[in-house]
Amino acid sequence: MKREKKLEKTIQIHFTRFQGIDEVPDKYKELLDSARFAFHNSYAPYSRFRVGACLLLDNGHHILGTNIENASYPLCMCAERNAVAKLSFEVPIQKIKVIAVVADKKDALVSPCGACRQVLIEMETRQKSPIEIIFQGEEGSYYLLESISSILPFSFSADSLP
Ligand code: THU
Repeated sequence: MKREKKLEKTIQIHFTRFQGIDEVPDKYKELLDSARFAFHNSYAPYSRFRVGACLLLDNGHHILGTNIENASYPLCMCAERNAVAKLSFEVPIQKIKVIAVVADKKDALVSPCGACRQVLIEMETRQKSPIEIIFQGEEGSYYLLESISSILPFSFSADSLP
């Protein structure tokens, strides 16, 4: 069998970076405020890095999550995944339109970890519609992306399973 010539490609992702909160559209500002409220319940005695997440659902509800750590470090749970876990209480099940993520350290970039990206892309695939994500960037900025797939190219999915 003749092998194909090697393929080289560049993947581009589209994002918007707002320089400060004043530039962020009101729709997202509200979500960022809710996410900021969430981290007040954070339990992060080990990292001292408190994170808040807020999901905006199709029905307009805000679902909050914060990080909960554990003396057995691998059991620490991120804000994003704690928020997704709470979705199961929403009856009937709702689609996620947007997720907002912030930390109480102002200048930190709070881009979701790999595990959270994997969980979020599962939700995106399941609901068959994109989930926008807005998260805190450096120096008071915010990043907005139109889909979780933008931050997780070559993701593992059910398509790979036998
Ligand atoms: N963390 C989150 O909750 N979300 C993120 O997007 C990044 C990291 C938490 C996990 C841990 O409790 C702490 O931040 C430090 O990694």
